[in-house]
Amino acid sequence: MNAVSLKIISFFNQAGGTGKTTLTQNLGYQLAQRRHRVLLVDIDPQASLTAFMGLEPFDLKKTIADSLLKDAPLPLHQNLHDVDLVPSNILLSAVEVQLHSVIAREWRLKQTLLTVQDSYDFVLIDCPPTLGIFSILSLVASTHEPIPLI
Ligand SMILES: Nc1ncnc2c1ncn2[C@@H]1O[C@H](COP(=O)(O)OP(=O)(O)OP(=O)(O)O)[C@@H](O)[C@H]1O
Ligand SMILES: [Mg+2]
Repeated sequence: MNAVSLKIISFFNQAGGTGKTTLTQNLGYQLAQRRHRVLLVDIDPQASLTAFMGLEPFDLKKTIADSLLKDAPLPLHQNLHDVDLVPSNILLSAVEVQLHSVIAREWRLKQTLLTVQDSYDFVLIDCPPTLGIFSILSLVASTHEPIPLI
């Protein structure tokens, strides 16, 4: 699968509790059952998706924060219920301030996702319930942006 057919989908709503994380997880699982290669990306410092997928956020040494700030390779947790996950934890919240002075910061997530574009058919991004930098990074990186409402 190449960059043209890769779908990067951000689940975004600035309101809290609208089903973003639940939908990211469940759609990812369903796509994987249909033999698509799926990467889930948790870009919410609340780390709900990371916890939903069975990881303990506080125990993680590497998260999406390292890739956004330091160009570290994406910390891929592979084959969790047939999908891969890039996790988050509460330390991501500090990145918001640190990214403030980075040139072209809006492209940081897109750039890091392009490094794994040949490995996946779908990248599903779980956004936080804010209009801050993490949602902007996600929306810039995305090919599709559904807005969950419940
Ligand atoms: N389709 C649905 N119907 C009813 N309840 C749902 C549905 N999807 C999720 N929920 C419930 O709604 C609550 C919030 O879901 P979820 O955590 O996915 O929302 P969220 O938008 O990611 O929240 P946040 O904005 O805090 O990140 C949870 O208790 C979840 O079980
Ligand atoms: Mg959520």
